[in-house]
Order: sequence, then C-alpha cells, then structure tokens
Amino acid sequence: MTTTRRDVQDLQRERRAVCLKALSLAALLAVIAGLGNVLLWPSAARAQQRDGTGAGQAAAHQPSGRLTESDIMRMLPATDMGAGAALHRGAALASDDGPATPFDAAPIPENPLAPDADAIGAKSCVACHALEGMQAAHSLHVASFRAGSVRSGPQAACEACHGPGSEHAKNPAAPGLIIAYTHDAKTPVDVQTRTCLSCHVGGARQHWIGSVHQARGLSCTDCHNPMTRLSAEGVLANESINQVCATCHQDIRAQFNRRSHMPLPEGQMSCVDCHNPHGSITQPLLKTDTVNETCETCHAEKRGPFLFEHAPVAENCLNCHTPHGSNQENLLALPVPMLCQQCHTNTDHPNDLLTRQNLRGGLVPDERVMERGCLDCHSNIHGSNNPNGAKFHQ
Ligand code: HEC
Ligand code: HEC
Ligand code: HEC
Ligand code: HEC
Ligand code: HEC
Ligand code: HEC
Ligand code: HEC
Ligand code: HEC
Ligand code: HEC
Ligand code: HEC
Repeated sequence: MTTTRRDVQDLQRERRAVCLKALSLAALLAVIAGLGNVLLWPSAARAQQRDGTGAGQAAAHQPSGRLTESDIMRMLPATDMGAGAALHRGAALASDDGPATPFDAAPIPENPLAPDADAIGAKSCVACHALEGMQAAHSLHVASFRAGSVRSGPQAACEACHGPGSEHAKNPAAPGLIIAYTHDAKTPVDVQTRTCLSCHVGGARQHWIGSVHQARGLSCTDCHNPMTRLSAEGVLANESINQVCATCHQDIRAQFNRRSHMPLPEGQMSCVDCHNPHGSITQPLLKTDTVNETCETCHAEKRGPFLFEHAPVAENCLNCHTPHGSNQENLLALPVPMLCQQCHTNTDHPNDLLTRQNLRGGLVPDERVMERGCLDCHSNIHGSNNPNGAKFHQ
C-alpha cells in the first residue's frame, strides 16, 4: 500500500512527461479555439485574489441568500482562530493537543504526486466544478475557509484540502495531480489522511496511527464527507454516526435489534459512546482504559464500592453481559441459572438442579429455576451494602 520514494519519483517523472505533452496539446487547442486564457489560470487566480470579485467566472458560486461572510464568521464553531497559527504553507501545523489549525490560517498542503504545482484559487476550481462548488458552499470547511481566511485569502477554500491545483487544471484527466479522497483515487490513503491530520492531529486522533482502522487502510473519508452536509454535526459521510459505522459493521448494528439492547436504535446512544473510531489504547477501540470504566460512565451505581463485592462484577461487566444486544433479559450473555452455573458449580445448592421434576410443573418445583431463578434470592447481584448482604440477598 505504501508507495516507495522511487515509485513516487518515477510517477513524478512520468507525470511531468505527460504534463508536457498535455501542455503542448492544450496550447495548440487553446490557440485553435481562441481560449488562450486557459493557460492563464494561475495569474487569473492571483488577480481574483487581489480584486476579490472574479466577475469573469460566471459559474463561480457565492453563498446565496442573505448570509454575508461576516454572518458566517460569527457562526463559526468555537475555535482558536488565529492564535499562534501557521500563516503560510509549510509553517507550524496543529500541535498534538492543541485545537485544529484555525480556518484563517489554512495552509496549502503539498501533493507528493504534483510537487511543482501552485495554488490557483477556489474560483478557478469552481469554474470547472460548479456542482461541487455549489454543494460545498455551505459546508463547514468551505464556508469557513472562505469567511475566515483573512490572511491566506478566500482562495484557499478548496486547496486547503485538495492541494495546489495548477497542474491538475492544465491536465484534469491525469489522476494524482490533485489530492483526491476516494479509494480508487491515485492519491495514496496515507497522503489523504495526512492532509486532514495536518489540521486535526492529536486530541481524539492521538492513536490514529497504528489503530485497527488505520492499519486496515481506512481513510478519514470512509466516515467523513466534508464536501456536503449529510449530518447535523461531525461532517459525517452519512446521516448519523450509527449509520456510518453500520456501512461496514452491519453485524454489530444488527445485534442492537435483539430483544434486550441499550437505546441505540432509538437514537439515544451511538457507537462512539463506547468506542473511539480514531484509535485508542484499549482493545477494541474503547474510549476508556477498561470495559468497566466505559460502562460506569453511564451506570455509575454499579461501580460501588460495596461492602460485599461480587468478584466478577468488579473484574469485567462482560463476564455476564454483552454490550451490543442479547436475546436474554438485561443483556445477559446466558439465561439464569446457566449464567451463574458457569462459575458456581463446586457446591451443591447452586449446582444440582435442572432435572425435569425440578421445573415449574414437576414433582418438586425448585425455586432456583422458577421466576427469576437464582435472582429470586440473590437479588443484589452487582454487590451489596447491607450488613446482611454477604450472599447478595439484600
Ligand atoms: C480545467 C477544468 C478544471 C479545473 C480548473 C479544475 N478541475 Fe478538477 N477536475 C476536472 C475534470 C475534468 C475532472 C475529472 C477527471 C476525470 O474524471 O478523469 C476533475 C477531477 C477532480 C477531482 C477528482 C480527482 C480524482 O482523482 O478522483 C478533484 C478532487 C478535483 N478535480 C478538484 C479540483 C480542485 C480542488 C480544483 C482547483 C484547485 C480543480 N479541480 C480545478 C477539471 C478541472
Ligand atoms: C475539508 C476538506 C475539503 C475542502 C475544503 C474541499 N474538499 Fe473537495 N473533497 C474533499 C473530500 C474528502 C472529497 C471526497 C468526498 C467523497 O467521499 O466522495 C472531496 C471530493 C471532491 C471532488 C470529487 C468529487 C467526486 O465525485 O469524486 C471534487 C471535484 C472536489 N472535491 C472539489 C472541491 C472544490 C471545488 C472545493 C472548493 C469549493 C473543495 N472540493 C473543497 C475534501 C474537501
Ligand atoms: C486547514 C485546516 C483544516 C483541514 C485541512 C481540514 N480541516 Fe476539518 N476542521 C478544521 C477546523 C478549524 C474545524 C473547526 C472545529 C475545530 O475548531 O476543531 C474543523 C472541523 C472538522 C470536523 C468537526 C466538525 C464538527 O461538526 O465538529 C471534522 C469531522 C473535520 N473537520 C474533518 C476533516 C477531514 C475529514 C478533513 C480532510 C478531508 C479535514 N477536516 C481537513 C480545519 C481543517
Ligand atoms: C471509522 C470511522 C471514522 C474514521 C476512519 C475517522 N473518523 Fe473522525 N469521527 C468519526 C465519528 C463517528 C466522529 C464523531 C462525530 C460526532 O461526535 O458528532 C468523528 C469525529 C471527528 C472530529 C470532530 C470531533 C473531534 O474529535 O474533534 C474530527 C475533527 C475528526 N473526526 C477528524 C477525523 C480525521 C482527520 C480522520 C482521519 C485521520 C478521521 N476523523 C477518521 C468517525 C471516523
Ligand atoms: C469502511 C469500513 C469501516 C467503517 C465505516 C467502520 N469500520 Fe470499524 N472496522 C473496519 C475494519 C476493516 C476493521 C477490522 C476488522 C477485523 O480486523 O476483523 C474494523 C474494526 C473495528 C473494531 C474492532 C477493533 C479491534 O481492535 O478489534 C471496532 C470496535 C470498530 N471497528 C468500530 C467502528 C466504529 C465505532 C465505527 C463507526 C464510527 C466503525 N468501526 C466504522 C472497518 C470499518
Ligand atoms: C455500550 C458500549 C458499546 C456500544 C454502544 C457499542 N459497543 Fe462495540 N463493543 C463494546 C465492548 C465493551 C466491546 C468488547 C466486546 C468483547 O470484548 O467481547 C465491543 C466490541 C466491538 C467490536 C469488536 C468485537 C466484535 O464483537 O466483533 C466491534 C467491531 C464493535 N464493538 C463495533 C461497534 C459498533 C459498530 C457499534 C455501534 C453500532 C458499537 N460497537 C457500539 C462496547 C460498545
Ligand atoms: C452512554 C451511556 C451508556 C453506556 C456507556 C453504557 N450504557 Fe448500558 N444503558 C444505557 C441506557 C440509557 C440504558 C437504558 C436504561 C433504561 O432504559 O432505563 C442502558 C441499559 C443497560 C442494561 C439494561 C438493558 C435492558 O434490557 O434493560 C444493561 C444490562 C446495560 N445497560 C449494561 C451496560 C454495559 C455492560 C455497559 C458497558 C459495556 C454499558 N451498559 C454502557 C446507557 C449506557
Ligand atoms: C455476575 C454477573 C454480572 C456481572 C459481572 C454484571 N452484571 Fe449487570 N446484571 C446481572 C444480572 C443477573 C442482571 C439482572 C438483574 C435483575 O434482573 O435484577 C443484571 C442487570 C444489569 C442492569 C440492568 C438492571 C439494573 O440493575 O440496573 C445493568 C444496567 C447492569 N446489569 C450493568 C452492569 C454493569 C455496568 C456491570 C459491570 C460493572 C455489570 N452489570 C456486571 C449480572 C451481572
Ligand atoms: C464469572 C464467574 C461468575 C459468575 C458468572 C457468577 N459468579 Fe457469583 N461469584 C463468583 C466469584 C469468583 C465469587 C467469589 C467467591 C468467593 O469469594 O469465594 C462469587 C460469589 C458469589 C456469591 C457469594 C458467595 C459467598 O460465599 O459469599 C453468591 C451468592 C454468588 N456469587 C451468586 C451468583 C449468582 C446468583 C450468579 C448468577 C446471576 C453468579 N454468582 C454469577 C464468580 C461468578
Ligand atoms: C430460595 C432462595 C435461593 C435460591 C433460589 C438460590 N439461592 Fe443461593 N443461597 C441461598 C441462601 C439462603 C444461601 C446462604 C446459605 C448459607 O449461608 O449457608 C445461598 C448461598 C449461595 C452461595 C454461597 C455458597 C454456598 O453454597 O453457600 C452461592 C455461590 C449461591 N448461593 C449461588 C446460587 C445460584 C448460582 C443459584 C441459582 C442456581 C442460587 N444460589 C439460588 C438462597 C438461594
């Protein structure tokens, strides 16, 4: 998956050759068709940048309606705009635990497959990509880059993510000359993720490198799509977090349809209440150091401390529960009494039962298998604070 430097150099050489050919072809076409200005994009963009109107670009899309750029500026999410920010390409990037690189300092990332390309400005992109320009106009990033990029100029709105576009504009059909974010794109996935991470490194993404998702070749854009507004928040690639995860983890999502489940299908919870999809130090991508800490963020009453602790509870909630859904009551992994008898098999009372005559209609009905089984008597199964609760009866 990783491209070696030699590969990249070969590609670059190849690309330059292709470019040259394309360039002369384009020049010829331009002369014939009288479209000489095709070759003047870079300077045209610079001109736009100066006068800020770009009236020549009929297709250029401006945020419509009554929203002005200063409105958008006010609506930007809380971010450390400007403080200690990188001003130019290549300057300091977001630090490991700091906030994202602010919108008004959007640097233009480098594209290793087009090392000589220069920025040409958003208006030039939109001239050819009217549809994408329109779709993205109200997206968090593009709207904010436009409004916020006081110093680098509103032209960074596209190239802050896609890299400098001059080579691509000259030769749009050659793959790789623009940073693209799909799996069939020429841009390697690690260049894609590195570009997003140049502003979003650290924080929740501290353990992205080496995480199972990174190792399995996922790109940020398997879960995020900053080009449109598909989700209310999080710039997701689908309406909700749970749907994003379900595109690949259908089996897990289906477990939440079982009889007993936490209210995730009801929309009150999501996969990221327990998991950090960007990577974590706890298998499997758990947000906290242990399973119990994860559960206890919501079920604090199960943490104790108890006068009489039930050892398996303190050890791991998953000794008895499944997290994603169960056909037993209360998310239990097995029905009572079998659940208990996995461990309590050494002594007679918890152990011997379950012959047919013990059952409800049998000769000697046994309360250990009736109603709530063992829980009829051992009702405080997670631990007891009652001085008489050593056996969890109260
Ligand atoms: C001269 C017109 C033109 C300009 C200017 C232009 N593009 Fe493109 N772009 C195209 C065409 C045509 C394609 C489709 C190429 C194909 O499908 O083979 C394309 C494809 C793309 C892709 C998808 C590439 C892939 O490998 O999937 C991205 C991303 C993109 N352009 C972004 C931009 C950005 C950002 C800019 C401004 C820096 C820009 N384009 C400027 C014409 C242009
Ligand atoms: C925050 C980063 C970001 C910004 C800013 C951004 N894009 Fe994109 N762009 C992406 C991502 C990610 C994708 C891939 C989306 C997907 O999953 O299909 C993409 C896809 C595209 C494509 C290819 C669409 C296709 O169907 O393959 C084009 C063209 C494009 N962007 C143009 C633009 C233009 C024009 C702008 C400026 C108005 C812009 N982008 C701004 C991140 C960005
Ligand atoms: C030039 C810097 C920059 C680049 C490049 C960039 N972003 Fe952002 N992004 C920001 C800023 C600033 C915010 C605002 C939130 C903040 O302050 O952290 C943001 C917000 C987000 C959010 C959170 C939105 C929310 O509703 O909370 C997501 C998700 C995101 N970006 C994903 C991406 C992805 C995926 C890419 C790559 C395709 C990308 N970003 C590229 C600067 C950037
Ligand atoms: C497996 C899916 C997945 C992948 C891959 C992924 N994300 Fe996310 N990301 C999410 C989800 C889900 C959220 C939570 C959104 C919310 O809470 O609203 C999120 C939140 C975010 C946020 C905003 C909240 C925060 O933590 O600051 C940013 C920024 C972000 N992701 C950037 C990235 C970047 C950059 C990459 C690539 C290195 C990436 N993500 C890869 C699923 C993913
Ligand atoms: C594009 C596909 C894709 C998406 C979307 C996706 N995942 Fe994954 N996920 C994977 C793959 C592939 C693995 C590795 C599975 C394996 O090795 O068996 C994985 C593994 C995991 C694991 C197990 C980690 C481990 O160490 O065993 C968890 C937990 C997980 N994903 C959670 C999520 C969550 C939460 C989301 C949504 C925010 C999500 N995934 C979205 C593809 C995806
Ligand atoms: C209440 C917390 C919680 C929620 C919500 C949750 N998970 Fe999990 N998940 C866990 C725990 C705990 C484990 C470890 C299970 C184990 O070790 O047997 C796990 C394991 C996993 C695994 C890897 C092991 C396996 O069973 O294949 C994947 C993949 C996964 N979860 C995906 C998801 C997805 C996708 C969602 C959302 C639909 C989700 N989880 C929601 C807590 C949760
Ligand atoms: C984000 C909060 C949250 C986290 C984290 C969480 N839960 Fe829950 N859990 C809930 C909610 C909400 C309910 C439903 C409560 C209700 O309906 O009264 C619930 C219900 C339950 C139930 C009862 C299910 C039923 O069928 O009535 C069990 C058992 C449970 N959780 C176990 C766990 C375990 C084990 C973990 C850790 C793997 C965990 N929970 C993590 C929020 C959470
Ligand atoms: C020894 C097995 C066992 C372990 C370990 C265990 N539980 Fe339970 N849990 C049960 C049983 C049995 C029930 C059903 C209780 C009932 O019907 O009164 C239950 C019910 C629940 C319920 C729903 C009813 C209620 O009491 O609120 C929640 C929530 C819950 N457990 C959370 C947890 C958490 C969190 C942990 C880890 C700290 C955990 N459990 C560990 C056996 C266990
Ligand atoms: C994962 C193994 C495991 C499971 C499942 C389990 N227990 Fe336990 N239980 C233990 C251990 C270990 C102890 C501590 C034994 C000791 O201190 O001698 C214990 C202690 C007890 C005690 C107190 C015993 C004493 O001598 O003080 C009772 C009562 C009990 N469990 C009932 C249950 C019931 C009822 C269930 C089913 C709902 C259950 N247990 C499920 C492992 C388990
Ligand atoms: C009718 C009430 C009742 C039911 C039902 C019941 N127990 Fe008990 N259990 C007790 C009492 C009372 C004690 C305390 C005995 C003592 O102190 O000598 C006890 C003690 C225990 C102990 C401590 C060790 C021992 O043998 O003294 C374990 C473990 C235990 N029960 C497990 C279970 C399991 C597992 C089940 C379900 C299969 C179960 N109990 C069903 C009443 C019950």
